[in-house]
Amino acid sequence: MTQKTSWNDWWAKWSNFQPKQKETEDAVDLYDYVFYGGSAGPGKSYFLRHYPIKFLIENCWHKLGLRGVRAGLFCENYPALHDRHLSRIAYEFPTWLGSYRAQQHELVLQDKYGGGIIAFRNLDDPSKYLSSEFALIEVDELTKNPRETFDFLRLRKRWPGVERTKFVGASNPGGVGHDWVKQMWIERVFPSEESERDQFHFIKALPTDNRYLPESYYNTLASLPEKLRKAYRDGNWDVFEGQYFSEWDKDQHVINPFVIPEDWKKFRAYDHGRENPACCQWFAVDYDGNAFCYRELYVRGQNVDQIAKELCRLSEGETYDYSVADPAIFAKTGFVDAHGGQTIAESFARSGVHFLPASNRRVDGWALMHQYLAWDVHKSPRLRYFKTCYNSIRTVPSLIHDEHRPEDVDTNGEDHAGDATRYFLMSLHERSTTRPLDPVERKFQQMLRKTEVSPQNLNDFYLGGK
Ligand SMILES: Nc1ncnc2c1ncn2[C@@H]1O[C@H](COP(=O)(O)OP(=O)(O)O)[C@@H](O)[C@H]1O
Ligand SMILES: [Mg+2]
Repeated sequence: MTQKTSWNDWWAKWSNFQPKQKETEDAVDLYDYVFYGGSAGPGKSYFLRHYPIKFLIENCWHKLGLRGVRAGLFCENYPALHDRHLSRIAYEFPTWLGSYRAQQHELVLQDKYGGGIIAFRNLDDPSKYLSSEFALIEVDELTKNPRETFDFLRLRKRWPGVERTKFVGASNPGGVGHDWVKQMWIERVFPSEESERDQFHFIKALPTDNRYLPESYYNTLASLPEKLRKAYRDGNWDVFEGQYFSEWDKDQHVINPFVIPEDWKKFRAYDHGRENPACCQWFAVDYDGNAFCYRELYVRGQNVDQIAKELCRLSEGETYDYSVADPAIFAKTGFVDAHGGQTIAESFARSGVHFLPASNRRVDGWALMHQYLAWDVHKSPRLRYFKTCYNSIRTVPSLIHDEHRPEDVDTNGEDHAGDATRYFLMSLHERSTTRPLDPVERKFQQMLRKTEVSPQNLNDFYLGGK
């Protein structure tokens, strides 16, 4: 590239973008939040690595006359950053264009090309970037990150003189962030406070977009088990690698609401949260033991009194066999109510909502949930959700395996609805168990046998005072 006029030719030749990559390049001109997503192998990482050169030279230097502008390419951790990007810099970026400063992990363009910088960064602790600014932020494998990371990075997306700073994410389906990414870019369901919704744009990527993939790669994709094949080859966001409830199928587990027969038993299960969402689910069980989650409450940022009031309003006219909750709300050392130091469970009881502590044997609970969700062509699942339980059917299928303890769910995901269902199933199961009970379970059984429990003695009762 010797003169400015040859820039377009040079860029087209050097970037060597294929049609879908070009489409993404054009989309970034039009939209401020672009997500390039879908299957594995279409050239997403390649795009993220090359695109900043155009952004820094053409958009910032040629058009705006700005020098030394910074772009950031982020991966979830350092090994991923190295494998996907750093290892390729030396042979993809010519040295006359800029030099790579290995210690800083930065590619600095020559002065005569505007001196822009591509900073290669990892997201193991996003708060490191508290005082950083970037005109362009790119995140590779965005779904490996929680929504908070995106909210945080968004604030770092600013540069004096650049009116339209840009965010570009790329990802396969799967990961702790699968759900929020899917919501915002694919389903276009935004939190009410989102003011830039018309700036979100999704480009669906498929392996067939990339002519540089060897034939054998398509064969490998075609040989994957159905679920993985749907995610990785077809870019289907309803299923993905690492999904905990891989048996989940909307056609099986989500049903139209119906009027619950009067004589079916009803139950409530509750997972507490203040900053995190609080989730209550209402269940009805038929004579064959099939469970239906027929109502949910899913709220964030409310105190116990507000939640209790809403629970009472929604429960009006109904009676329950019992209601169970996260055992942590019964502990003085756990969630403690702001007024008076009593437990959350006692505060609920004062407001007329009486919970029993659920067993928190997590892996057993998840195993039970697997049993209830299991289905095949001859047999329907024993647990189904009304389609009006929007947050339950959104978050239960998005739960993923814990990397270090695969039999458990990764608690970084949005697990409140899953937890509530787990508490409910454990309580149901334990009423008919023959196994020796642990202390919490024993209390639970004793509580059930008591005809009336006064809210005042709840805490003593749970904590073994009596
Ligand atoms: N336009 C391109 N020109 C040359 N090679 C490409 C191009 N796009 C992608 N590739 C190559 O194809 C392979 C898969 O691309 P990659 O970006 O890793 O895919 P993804 O991130 O979507 O899984 C990589 O080896 C990459 O270098
Ligand atoms: Mg990639």
